[in-house]
Amino acid sequence: MIRVANLQKSYKKQTVLNISELQINEAEFVAIVGASGSGKSTLLNLLSGLDKPTSGEILISGQNISKLNDYKLSKFRGQKIGFVFQFFYLQPFLTVRQNIEAASFPRRLSSVERLKRAEALARVVGLGEKTNDFPHQLSGGQIQRVAIARSLINSPEILFADEPTGNLDSENSSQVIGLLQAIQKETGMTLIIVTHDERIAARADRIIRLEDGKIMEENNA
Ligand SMILES: Nc1ncnc2c1ncn2[C@@H]1O[C@H](COP(=O)(O)OP(=O)(O)OP(=O)(O)O)[C@@H](O)[C@H]1O
Ligand SMILES: [Mg+2]
Repeated sequence: MIRVANLQKSYKKQTVLNISELQINEAEFVAIVGASGSGKSTLLNLLSGLDKPTSGEILISGQNISKLNDYKLSKFRGQKIGFVFQFFYLQPFLTVRQNIEAASFPRRLSSVERLKRAEALARVVGLGEKTNDFPHQLSGGQIQRVAIARSLINSPEILFADEPTGNLDSENSSQVIGLLQAIQKETGMTLIIVTHDERIAARADRIIRLEDGKIMEENNA
């Protein structure tokens, strides 16, 4: 599903990511761990096409995403990829349902379908009663769940999540990961998350450890 070869990202003359080879399979759950500054977000942003590599190749379903122009890339992303940001934020003046709907890839759903789907996703993440609430009326864990629902609106084949439980206590973290795993099981999507929590990483099929922009170790959890 994802294949990386000789991937490098540099800022000025400093190389912050250098990965000679990496492969992630369909329906795999991969956790990326490593110290702050080790390149986790950089890797996720490159794999998801949010950012462009300095050199190297990223193939997703055989498509070299570094070769796509901006229009084709955003279309490709809209159709295949969901993303939960490390510093996600919801639109404060939109309700829960509207925040979820707003992430929908425009040409794929009618407004009625989009609304239904947003409500269904709100229920999936346990916020069925809150669809008309505004972000300031929600707890941190509930906001994080809206961010997850939002990332799923286009039924992505690959979901990238950068510290999706970063602001949560261990019980809520565990629930959010359980939720992602349940959705993954049902849809067969590939799940790639960055986490600093070893207990969460241990639930993945595979753990990739980054150090100074390099993969130090890969092991099956
Ligand atoms: N736009 C940028 N310009 C220059 N350097 C950058 C830029 N973005 C990231 N870096 C550097 O790249 C390195 C990797 O950053 P990255 O955000 O990938 O780390 P991370 O592993 O996600 O850390 P954290 O756990 O703190 O989120 C860091 O040294 C950072 O300073
Ligand atoms: Mg980061």
